[in-house]
Amino acid sequence: MTDATAGAGRTQAVRSRPAPVGGRVDIGTCRRVTVTAVSERGWRDDAALLADMRASGGPDTSQWLARWRPGNGAGSSTLVQVEALDGSRFAFLIDTGWDPAYMAGRYRDLGVDRMLRDGEVAFLYLTHEHLDHLWGVEAVLSVRPDIEILSPSTFGPEADRFLDGAEYPEAGARNRVPHTGRRVRLEPGGVHRLAPGVASVTFDLPILLGIEGEQSLFFHVADRGIVCVTGCCHQTITRFADYARENLAGGERLYGLYGGLHLAPFGEIEPDKEELIEALGSYGFQKIAANHCTGLPAVERMLALGYPVVRGSGRAGSRSDLYVGNGDSVTFG
Ligand SMILES: [Fe+2]
Ligand SMILES: [Fe+2]
Repeated sequence: MTDATAGAGRTQAVRSRPAPVGGRVDIGTCRRVTVTAVSERGWRDDAALLADMRASGGPDTSQWLARWRPGNGAGSSTLVQVEALDGSRFAFLIDTGWDPAYMAGRYRDLGVDRMLRDGEVAFLYLTHEHLDHLWGVEAVLSVRPDIEILSPSTFGPEADRFLDGAEYPEAGARNRVPHTGRRVRLEPGGVHRLAPGVASVTFDLPILLGIEGEQSLFFHVADRGIVCVTGCCHQTITRFADYARENLAGGERLYGLYGGLHLAPFGEIEPDKEELIEALGSYGFQKIAANHCTGLPAVERMLALGYPVVRGSGRAGSRSDLYVGNGDSVTFG
């Protein structure tokens, strides 16, 4: 159903990209995008996560070999519903959280399991292989093992094996349901159009816990501008927003932002992230729905700076009603 996913074969590297127009890529437009945080809280206890990371060798250790204490995982997963200019709609899922049992509950609570069963989720878009985004994949595959998966081509062999059905006992990661559907690997180096007004870009960079690369989404909402949607934004918010400005038609008008911004992922604003928070104000976003690894202190700083932060309900396990949390939605358009 998508430009980028058209083609035969179960696995393929994708190079299908729209031609640049006037130096910038026109991804088309859509009418509206609604983003729902199925779960945005990666884990339950920051101190426990940091202690496990330290005990396993620090931030450069492989997440697949580290020892994560049982019971601390939750996870990041997002439902995206797109309305096209002609009024037709489709939905897809971003990431699958960490703990499969917890994620199965979240999918059930929001009716996503029914959507998966009824074929109402067009594809699963995996931003990166971090544990809190990928390791809950069994919760999706147990309902829909044949769902099409779009992953960045930077996925490591462990992540690919995990999708095929594998267990990493030391790390407490397990997927018992092999993926049987088509797998599309989106490569760095250009814009992949997924549908009119919907595009993906793979950012190639080393990321903590021994992984590489994150892909993020851009939506061009007619008469509004570009909406940037990210998993953890390890590429940094400035690189992400600059990409839209410099490479996308309509990028001079950045309208919305959703997702984790990795500013205070472990409870405090990281020392080098203050500048990023200030720089964020220069892009002119009209709606900022920052959650997950953005961290509450960073959201509070944005509010103090007068940014248009979208608030939530603070229910279903999120830490605060100051941001779009578990079960909350935001509509762009
Ligand atoms: Fe994350
Ligand atoms: Fe991450």
